[in-house]
Amino acid sequence: GKPPFALKPTLGFDAIPITRSDTATLPHGYKAQALVPWGTPITGSYPEFKSVEGNTGEEQEQQVGSHHDGMHYFPMQDDPNGHGLLCVNHEYVDQRVFHAAGPTFVAGQRPTDEVRKEIAAHGVSVVEIQKNALSGEWGVVNGSYNRRVTAGTPAEIRGPVRGSDLVKTKYSPDGTMARGTINNCAHGYTPWGTYLTCEENWAGYFVSRVQLARAEALLNWFEDTQPALYPGRKTSFVQGRYFARFYPETDRIIGIFDEFFDQKVTNLVYSQIGDTFNDTDRELVGEFGALLTQAGIAEDLSLSRPREQSRYGVRTASSRYAWETAQSGEDQYIRFDATPKGADATEDYRNEPNTQGWVLEIDPFDPNSTPIKRTTMGRFAHEGAWLSPPQLGQPVTFYMGDDARNEYIYKFVTKARYSKNANGDMLDEGILYTARFNDDGTGEWLALDINDPKFQAAAAAAGVEFADQADVLVNTRLAADVVGATKMDRPEWGTVHPQTREVYMTLTNNSSRTDENGNNPIDAANPRGPNPYGHIIRWREQGNRSWATKFEWDIFVLAGIESDSQVLPEQGGPALTQDNIFASPDGVWIDQFGTLWIQTDMSGSQQASGPFGANAMLAANPVTGEIKRFLQGPNEQETTGVVSTPDGKTLFVNFQHPGDRSQPGVFNSNWPDSGAVFRHPGDEVVTNNPDGPRPRSATLVVTREDGGVVGL
Ligand code: FEO
Ligand code: CA
Ligand code: CA
Ligand code: CA
Repeated sequence: GKPPFALKPTLGFDAIPITRSDTATLPHGYKAQALVPWGTPITGSYPEFKSVEGNTGEEQEQQVGSHHDGMHYFPMQDDPNGHGLLCVNHEYVDQRVFHAAGPTFVAGQRPTDEVRKEIAAHGVSVVEIQKNALSGEWGVVNGSYNRRVTAGTPAEIRGPVRGSDLVKTKYSPDGTMARGTINNCAHGYTPWGTYLTCEENWAGYFVSRVQLARAEALLNWFEDTQPALYPGRKTSFVQGRYFARFYPETDRIIGIFDEFFDQKVTNLVYSQIGDTFNDTDRELVGEFGALLTQAGIAEDLSLSRPREQSRYGVRTASSRYAWETAQSGEDQYIRFDATPKGADATEDYRNEPNTQGWVLEIDPFDPNSTPIKRTTMGRFAHEGAWLSPPQLGQPVTFYMGDDARNEYIYKFVTKARYSKNANGDMLDEGILYTARFNDDGTGEWLALDINDPKFQAAAAAAGVEFADQADVLVNTRLAADVVGATKMDRPEWGTVHPQTREVYMTLTNNSSRTDENGNNPIDAANPRGPNPYGHIIRWREQGNRSWATKFEWDIFVLAGIESDSQVLPEQGGPALTQDNIFASPDGVWIDQFGTLWIQTDMSGSQQASGPFGANAMLAANPVTGEIKRFLQGPNEQETTGVVSTPDGKTLFVNFQHPGDRSQPGVFNSNWPDSGAVFRHPGDEVVTNNPDGPRPRSATLVVTREDGGVVGL
């Protein structure tokens, strides 16, 4: 059943041609300025951005963060279209661009102020902005709303996980508080005027060396007690994925522990690298398993991290930025080492990773408010949380994606009904669902609820035990495995049509999707294996009720090159053309006029030398499937984050990580400080100057020269 569309936008601009230029390229009739680049002073003593020598950590705490991503504009009542609060996510930092001389280590430790600065550049900026009535330019208001929430800001834990043993830490022995928000990717907003920021690739910021410690114990046991068994053997560790190996007299590798084969000794992988796994190896597995039991190590064969770490990829050897090595050794930094060290969880940071991976609610209008981790909405690599237009007297629904290969789509439905007096308490109780996309175009929402008999039966059938709902939520991915959700091609942003409530979600790409005979076989909802270009899926809830448990779905567009792409494939739509080929869709947003904006996040060679040019934003008509390329950004950036003023005449778009393949002091982009903020098709292409200004993530403010609605 196709939905009744109420809005039919016309795309009133000429598509821009495929471009690479170190600036924004916009259609004729459009102009732009850059706003709130990384380092813009917004609070405290308003320290100026220092492009060459760099700012201190303390200064960064008073400045706009790095790597702008999802954002929302909250209009102020006095002048909604010219005055508001912009909430911008700061996903991560490129250390080579971020520090004047790149990241440094001193005897294996990070200088404390570098760590402090990196932590401060993460999180969210709340910035009051205003349009100058004369010039039409937007600027920052140095007012009391301005605020930085960082990877170090205290946050309250609410919902079923509050007080759970799984979130008790040295910092919060009663498990009610967490510190900081990490890798804030996309976002959401609530009907009661708060901002949601979503913690995506947080797992890599932590290290848990439990495997290494236990493997070492094992090797020591071998050396002490079994010299006859493996005469002449040598032992060694390999950092990272493989953590132990053994050389018998043949000098052959006979044992490799693979972190992906957790929990059970029988899952140890025995094979010489590059060899096939043969019968001799199988015998060795059995023999070695017996030895482990004998050593008393198999008992606690947690030779690996607990499931709430392993299922999410908490690192085993070193963390992404090595914050835990900060020279000062303060708790606020060493907490990123989750290796158990004390007698229990309140003496160390083994549970610190469990305090990340949530949706964090921030009240932008109360700069003194404590942000709240909303645990009802699940723990995974949260891309964003997208509101379905609320209806009085009905539950409120948010749609969410877990952006990793072969992960799931979710929605959260509040228990409480929406009213004019609704507030964040609505997020304290409700049901988290995950999606199954059937091949016949129908779909089901499967509850991840320990009180639901179907969930209990599925968990029992899978042999998985959950202690309580907190355990289910901390292990959301495992709970979704148990109920048989559909593994998707990396769910990124979603958006809900403001009138029809149809939901669109990007599936950005999936290099590990296989044909029907492989490990991650194609299905109707993920029909290409591998899927280098991505697609956009959409669904309609039964009865148009966002809280329904059944839906119908189809694919809006298979992205890609002209010979491998299609709009509305179920309706036999056309392939993409030079006016609109794109790949790796990420951000999507249907504005108040019904225009579907699509943003791309191609990485590596797909952006550098592929047929698509630079990362782009396109506009689409969701009814007809018409798509036009609207803008392309500067070198090596990702286009992510889009929102407008209520009148649609000012569009805010983020360019994240321009020049992200730079080396310290040699910049592949100089945007926006090059001065060339935008160009039009036919204007000279802008090239970067390696010795020029340091590139900065920033918000592009797009307007029409005639003052009309952007896109129409
Ligand atoms: Fe941070 Fe899934 O993009
Ligand atoms: Ca994204
Ligand atoms: Ca992406
Ligand atoms: Ca990104």
